[in-house]
Amino acid sequence: MGKLLGLTLLSLALAITGCKGQDTTKRLKLAHTLDTSHPVHQGMVAMAERLNTISGGELTIDIYPSGQLGSEREMIELLQIGSLAMTKVSASPMESFVPEMKVFSLPYVFRDEDHFWRVLDSDLGKQLLVAGERVRLRGLCYYDAGARSFYTTDRAINTPADLEGLKIRVQKSQTAVEMVSTLGGSATPISFGELYTSLQQGVVDGAENNPPSFYSSKHYEVSKYYSLDEHSYVPDMLLVSAHVWRNLSAQHQQWLQQAADESVPVQRALWKQQTEKALAEVQAAGVTVIYPDKTLFAQQVSPMHSALEGTPVGELLNTIKSL
Ligand code: GCU
Repeated sequence: MGKLLGLTLLSLALAITGCKGQDTTKRLKLAHTLDTSHPVHQGMVAMAERLNTISGGELTIDIYPSGQLGSEREMIELLQIGSLAMTKVSASPMESFVPEMKVFSLPYVFRDEDHFWRVLDSDLGKQLLVAGERVRLRGLCYYDAGARSFYTTDRAINTPADLEGLKIRVQKSQTAVEMVSTLGGSATPISFGELYTSLQQGVVDGAENNPPSFYSSKHYEVSKYYSLDEHSYVPDMLLVSAHVWRNLSAQHQQWLQQAADESVPVQRALWKQQTEKALAEVQAAGVTVIYPDKTLFAQQVSPMHSALEGTPVGELLNTIKSL
């Protein structure tokens, strides 16, 4: 117990630097897996700049992009022990830590963008954002991560039957595994950082993601088809270690939350522009973009919704559908 406490205190010192003598300045480390050209990274840069301004340089953030500090799951665990102050992850891997998060990885939950944001901005969305506090993961805001769709190295996906027998990379999420299996594919969880090589070497036949991630990861260089079935809208989440949060003064907490809140509209605007750009660029690079009949995919995965009836996630799902 004493050893564990010692380790946590040491970790905390590594996650937050500063606090020497009278110096009240603090630098927080924020690590994530995306490329610096990605609109979610740029949203976080806007947040860090804003924090620097409103705090007069007293509270600052150093960003470590491109998976330098590990996979999303690893970074979530670093936050839990206080070794890393902040991360940005998809809500998908969060479901292993906060079971209610599963609702975001279910296919065909949201009717459209408006519905998605109405839910995230609602009291329910806000409750889900901070639900991870009990496992030492405090959400600061959601970022737009659009709709996820399949891309494949050399077979066009027009209907779910085309997924039959294909190895499809998914995030570390049981719900994503179930979704791909229900559609007839063979789900293979792999970290984002290892995916380019896995596609190139044929370890998997495809994956699924939003257009800016498909583009900025360069996965389009090794995938010929992008089939916009838009099976899920999984938000990205900006998280702070609850240990780190509790060790910030009330003023620092307020500045950090304000900077995160103010970066949300900036990121959403960047998202729109860069989704269009990404689709145009991948087509220019020779990727065939397919617009399949989404209802075929939605029908095939509908048992995933009915199987949840009477469970807490099923109730959440019903509430979300009614909003
Ligand atoms: C999206 C999301 C990332 C996630 C990635 C993935 O790009 O923004 O947080 O890592 O999907 O599929 O792993």
